[in-house]
Amino acid sequence: MTRFTVNNQPVQYKLDASTPLLWALRDASNLTGTKYGCGTGDCGACTVDIDGAAVRSCQVTIGAIEGSFVTTIEGLAENRAHPVQRAFLAANVGQCGYCIPGMVMAASVLLRKNRNPSDEDIAAAITNLCRCGIYPRLVEAVGRAARLARGEDDSGPEEPEDQQTAVEPEA
Ligand code: FES
Repeated sequence: MTRFTVNNQPVQYKLDASTPLLWALRDASNLTGTKYGCGTGDCGACTVDIDGAAVRSCQVTIGAIEGSFVTTIEGLAENRAHPVQRAFLAANVGQCGYCIPGMVMAASVLLRKNRNPSDEDIAAAITNLCRCGIYPRLVEAVGRAARLARGEDDSGPEEPEDQQTAVEPEA
């Protein structure tokens, strides 16, 4: 029996201690926002926060994190209100979206440690891979998230063009 905390809830898994955290989260806890990409620690799609560190959950066993505090994308904030989520939405960072939860988790850990990261800091901290190539928007959005977190930018997500309300010309 392995015990730790996921999104502020105590969990006990009757799984083998060698089970990767990724599969305990997805299969036992149904927290499917944490994605499987490579299984080898390279892509970062499975990134979660463990005790304040961004960790590839495919590379850590549940037995190794007994007593730890795990936060997944589902537990980051109510209503996608975390500055990183707000900035990602505002910048339309996601394309296919598959890698985004892992990137959001890596960015949230970065901003907790560094309130004003440079583009180089962002590139060094967020090593997640994206086949859509959204890296320029990613760097822009993390910079914006840092400003939001510092209270310097309160702009919310912009409405996508195809959802903007048409304004009828006056007769
Ligand atoms: Fe864990 Fe790719 S699935 S790093």
